Amino acid sequence: MVGKEWSCVYQNPDAPVEARVKDLLSRLTLPEKIGQMTQIERTVASPTAITDSFIGSILNSGGSAPFEDAKSSDWADMIDGFQRSALASRLGIPIIYGTDAVHGNNNVYGATVFPHNIALGATRDAELVRRIGAATALEVRASGAHWAFAPCVAVLKDPRWGRSYESYGEDAGLVCEMTSLVSGLQGVPPEEHPNGYPFVAGRNNVVACAKHFVGDGGTDKGINEGNTIASYEDLEKIHIPPYLDCLAQGVSTVMASYSSWNGSSLHADYFLLTEILKEKLGFKGFLVSDWEGLDRLSEPWGSNYRNCIKTAVNAGIDMVMVPFNYKQFIKDMTDLVESGEIPMARVNDAVERILRVKFVAGLFEYPLTDRSLLATVGCKEHRELAREAVRKSLVLLKNGKNADTPFLPLDRNAKRILVTGTHADDLGYQCGGWTKTWFGLSGRITVGTTLLDAIKVAVGDKTEVIYEKTPSKETLASSEGFSYAIVAVGETPYAEAIGDSSELTIPFNGSDIVTAVAEKIPTLVILITGRPVVLEPRVLGETKALVAAWLPGTEGQGIADVVFGDYDFEGKLPVSWFKCVEHLPLDPRANSYDPLFPLGFGLNSKPV
Ligand code: GLC
Repeated sequence: MVGKEWSCVYQNPDAPVEARVKDLLSRLTLPEKIGQMTQIERTVASPTAITDSFIGSILNSGGSAPFEDAKSSDWADMIDGFQRSALASRLGIPIIYGTDAVHGNNNVYGATVFPHNIALGATRDAELVRRIGAATALEVRASGAHWAFAPCVAVLKDPRWGRSYESYGEDAGLVCEMTSLVSGLQGVPPEEHPNGYPFVAGRNNVVACAKHFVGDGGTDKGINEGNTIASYEDLEKIHIPPYLDCLAQGVSTVMASYSSWNGSSLHADYFLLTEILKEKLGFKGFLVSDWEGLDRLSEPWGSNYRNCIKTAVNAGIDMVMVPFNYKQFIKDMTDLVESGEIPMARVNDAVERILRVKFVAGLFEYPLTDRSLLATVGCKEHRELAREAVRKSLVLLKNGKNADTPFLPLDRNAKRILVTGTHADDLGYQCGGWTKTWFGLSGRITVGTTLLDAIKVAVGDKTEVIYEKTPSKETLASSEGFSYAIVAVGETPYAEAIGDSSELTIPFNGSDIVTAVAEKIPTLVILITGRPVVLEPRVLGETKALVAAWLPGTEGQGIADVVFGDYDFEGKLPVSWFKCVEHLPLDPRANSYDPLFPLGFGLNSKPV
């Protein structure tokens, strides 16, 4: 607003960002600076907490919602309420509200839930992923949040890891391509944008967060929060490259990993957090800890918290995701700064970075929700985009005995078909973890289309569809009446460590269900999993066709579109499919590499 007189430089939207940062920093007291470094969970974010402790950021954990099935407008009411408390503080610094929108705005009822990252890796379509980021940003801002803790740019080295589905795949180059989500979420920076400097295009975009720095997908045996044993050269070749692409797109935040590198916890690693990420790579946004990441630095967990703060903040953590015991954090942090154990220069650097992102994100100009964005939540355009992503993510592993006798596409005018399996009619299973709750749920948890819903729409009205979650003896006894069967089995939802598995078998006796049906009826098996799972010879041998559908999200029609032939298969494996868990981890560069299906494998259903 040219011509308007501003009492302070930092309040002037036309002033250069760095001038605004410098001016505001110079006005802050120590409590206000420490408040900016403090991130708390929404359940402890009372108006007095926000105003009196000068809280800089609020988040919700997975599943922490205003109330059950809260819609986007309910979330916006909550977050705008927090924001008004922040704006009432002495200098009126807005909060930045963060949420795990990792496959759409997945906490919010009615939001579009896109396929998880491993499915997007199977598409190898960077532009599609960017479009998904842009759609997600609209739905996140419609709910009042400003910051998505995405993308996870882990390079997946062992599918026993409980967060495999959050990775785009095992190949660093593929993960680098998929970082286009950053440009979707934040907007595409101009060519001349300085590398490593934060960028957010406007109020229809959100701050992105590249996570978890660094090597989270490479831990020994895939143990979550475990130890990545690797040379620095291997980190540079495998796990660091995706961050270079994120920085080139102006990613505004990076989240530190819980894991360790050769025994050194990332949250305490000055070399990687400061010397590499900030100094060598030139990252100018801010580094946020993971949830209670500081507590994990001590044994027993959470003991000697004051020392954990000292170690982590001096290593380079700028904002601490406390998220509950913020009074203790603020007390210890204040004591550490006053004693000089944490230099004021370190505090100023952290606060500068946080303020820079808030100015770049336009939070001072647009602190409250633009309610016109509510129309984008779960809108047709976004659901069609998600449906396209589902289509492109499907990997055809088997199609008939050979190319001359393909089983797919299915006949949509068949007389009578059987649809069965635990995952045929379960929207929660389709979405997987980080949906409505942290670990995910079963059932009609939000608005969407199950595989069964989609099949019923896809087939002609002369086709009789028989659905049984578990195939009954009577049905199997009258199997000759079925033209074919579609069996959907897979994993139940999980997140983080509860997803760690050394067996990787299909739950609920999925292999038994498959073979019981496939022995009697020509069968297509659809796997709803967050990663490769054990495929027994009987499953491979008895089935006519086999499709990896990963965790497709709310738009199950994308599966029907392809299996009934409206579209061809184009997905390629983003991760090697192992023969048995004893062979893990697989390495395509090793002579011993002997997968069931190699990285990049995927058949087409229509003869080319
Ligand atoms: C979790 C995850 C991280 C997530 C954060 C906030 O433990 O490690 O990916 O963004 O906490 O929910």
